[in-house]
Order: sequence, then structure tokens, then C-alpha cells
Amino acid sequence: MRVLVIGSGGREHALVWGLARSAGITRLCCAPGNPGIARQAELVPIASTDLQALLDFARKERIDLTVVGPEQPLAAGVVDLFLDHGLAVFGPTRRAAELEWSKAFAKDFMSRYRIPTASSRTFSRGQEAEARDYVQQVALPIVLKADGLAAGKGVLICRDREEATREMLGMLGGGSFGQAGARVVVEEFLAGEEASVFAITDGREYVILAPAQDHKRALDNDEGKNTGGMGAYAPAPVVNAALLHQVEEEIVRPTLAGMAAEGRPYSGCLYIGLMVTPAGPKVIEYNSRFGDPETQVVLPLFAGDLAQLLLAAVRGGIGAYRGLSWSPQQHGTAVCVVLASGGYPDAYAQGKVITGLERIENQRGIVAFHAGTRLEGTALVSSGGRVLGITAVRSSGTIAETIRDAYAAVAQVRFDGMHYRRDIGHRALIYAIGSYIEGTATS
Ligand code: AMP
Ligand code: GLY
Repeated sequence: MRVLVIGSGGREHALVWGLARSAGITRLCCAPGNPGIARQAELVPIASTDLQALLDFARKERIDLTVVGPEQPLAAGVVDLFLDHGLAVFGPTRRAAELEWSKAFAKDFMSRYRIPTASSRTFSRGQEAEARDYVQQVALPIVLKADGLAAGKGVLICRDREEATREMLGMLGGGSFGQAGARVVVEEFLAGEEASVFAITDGREYVILAPAQDHKRALDNDEGKNTGGMGAYAPAPVVNAALLHQVEEEIVRPTLAGMAAEGRPYSGCLYIGLMVTPAGPKVIEYNSRFGDPETQVVLPLFAGDLAQLLLAAVRGGIGAYRGLSWSPQQHGTAVCVVLASGGYPDAYAQGKVITGLERIENQRGIVAFHAGTRLEGTALVSSGGRVLGITAVRSSGTIAETIRDAYAAVAQVRFDGMHYRRDIGHRALIYAIGSYIEGTATS
């Protein structure tokens, strides 16, 4: 089987890494990829947004399966284009991916199918007066979401009404988020523990991968600015068996059934961003793709053949793979620490020489996923905000041991200005202590 992966970040490196371990792959390509990905796949110099060139390549090289990593080509209709030409492609169509590319659509959809989520109202340009009134009435803090794709930066949590009014008018006026802010969702703030659950689906049935927790803020203790994700770990203990069952029954199944009923069946990876509140799990957001960096911890814990699973999502019949769904009885743990460039998530330095990777590259239980790297001559240098995802995996043992493995590997790697969070995975430890105390209090 000839496989093409579209994208160039840590998520795509994890996909390529997983596919490279699958049986039956005769050729593995990635467009455009990065130097880390080049260790497992042939790089094809086509941008992930150049849909026509991607199609031409897949046709010419008779690619049997194309796997789409990022959201932009999905929102631009890459899956529709490939399907129109009879090519097998993993990911939702443009209309199905609207669950991610329009937060207003997602909120309306959840309300139609009574899928638990924060209460909200959506305002469009021209409705500034109503939006102002609404902001005066709702409880603080107030969550504002630009409707369209905003590279993970479209959510603002406002502590007071003045700030919320100012930011909302900035979005609707087109100043802060351009066209993505033409509609704004004003949403209730939810307190709780966050988790990401991925369902690989053919539109009817699905396989659940290990629930993960991302660390979105730049600094330790969830302080500092929002980023694309500074690290992740899996499984997230907050998603226990009872909660997972609830997520499947109240969120995954009604989402797939609702999308099918509306004539936009959803296949691919359905990413459910959850807030686990005292009132149960609620959807914070849907994404129409694998999460980054979560994929870097989720795929190393997947025991099956990734290529077969993704192909089943494309062809139908994924129900036969139900047994590969993650279960809370499984023992493995994975921790990914993102090494970021100096300045990230603001303007950051690039072109810094990376050293020490060779010391961990062949170490058992460690994978260095490349996110923003390139070659300058023979030197590996940084080329993005998030540069590397250093991942540790253990098939048994405690998450504390896996955290230690990850940081021991991180200590080997250097580049000028490199920074990372020192507390990736610590919420799992806090959660374990909390459950222990609760257990001893009730026993
Ligand atoms: P999103 O881009 O939708 O993933 O949102 C970014 C982050 O904002 C989420 O990971 C949450 O930490 C936070 N967030 C989004 N919506 C809410 C909400 N309704 N209540 C509390 N936090 C939220
Ligand atoms: N980790 C968050 C995302 O992929 O959107």
C-alpha cells in the first residue's frame, strides 16, 4: 500500500511514525514533512495548502491512502477533491469539517442534538447592540470565540465586562481576527478538568484512542499565554471507565448520528475537546483532525495497525476494529514535552542549531518528534515556535516514571533560547493523589 501524509508538524511526524510500523506499506510519503519525518518517509515538496498539486501527486504516484493532518486543507475541501477523483483519503469532507471551522455551526449543532456543552449565543456583524446587552447580563468570566479558524488563538477568557465588550467589538469589527471574527460565540465559562478524546470513525462506528491532556499555556502552573500546546500526556486519569461511557453515549454517538442525519456524514478523526465538570462531561470544541501535541502521546499507546485502522475509517467497517478501542484497563503511559523557541508564542527566533538529539534517538522508550525543524546544510536548526516533542512511552509502570524518562531525554537536547514547561503530566499526579485521598476518606 502506498500512503501519503499531508502536513509538516509534530502531529504528522507521529502519524508517519505510526504508519511506518504498520504492515503492508510499500511506500510512505509526506508533503511537505520535515527532517525528522524524513527518517521514516520520503518527503514531497508540496505545501499542505496546494490542493491541486497534492491531487496531481497522489494520482501520478497511485497513492492508495492519503491521510490529512492539519485543519486548513480539510476546511478548503481537500477530501472532497480527492473523493471526486476516486482516491481514498482519511479525513472529513468540507461540510463535515464545519464542526471545527465554524464554532457557530458546532454550537447550533450541539443544541439541535442536545449534546452537552457550555450555554452560548452567537452574534454576527451588525448585531453589536444585542451583543453588548448580552455581555452585560451573563455571568463572569465571559468566554469569547471567533467563529472561524484562528490557529488555536480564537478564544478569549474575559474577567470583566469592559474587556469582554471591547474584545467582542474588536472581533466583530474585523480588527482582531479578520473574517474569522465576523461571527462571535459568547459562551459560559466552564470550570473543570480538560481532556481530549479522539474517535476514529467511518461515520457510523468508531474506535476510541487513549484520552489525553494537553497543556495549552506557555508557562508552568498553566500560567502565561495560550500556545498551540506545550506538551501532553496520556491516558488522562479523569477519563475513567464511567466517564468514557458517558462521553460515548452523550457525545460521540449523537454527534455521528446527527451529522449523518444532516447529510454530512463525518469520517476521519473526531477530536472532542472536553471539560469534565461537576455536572458531567461537556464539549468545549470539536476539531476535525488529530490534535497536536496529543497525537504524539496517543499514537504510541495504540496497539493495533494504524494503516488498517485509518483505511477502515475510509472504506467503512471500522466496527470490526472495536476491540482496539482504548480501555481504562490498559497499562501504558506516554508523556510529551514540547521544546519551544525563545519568545514563543510571541515572535520567536529561528535557525538555532539543535544539538544532542543523537544521544536520545535510539533510546528505547523515547521518540523525538520533529515539529519545527529544517536542515541548513547538514545542521539541524529550529524553524518554528514548537520545535520538538520529546516523548517517553512505557508499556507498564507509573506516569511518574514516564515523566522522569521524558525529562531525562529533554536534558540531552539543546538549542539557543529553548524553553519548555517543567510540569507536563503533573496534573495526572495531582489527580491520583486526589483520588487516593477520596478513596481513603470514604473507605
Ligand atoms: P479552544 O480553542 O476552543 O480549544 O479553546 C482554547 C482553550 O480555552 C481551551 O482549551 C480551554 O482551556 C479554554 N476554553 C474554551 N472554552 C471554554 C469555556 N467555555 N470555559 C472555560 N474554558 C474554556
Ligand atoms: N491540542 C489542541 C489542538 O490540536 O487543537
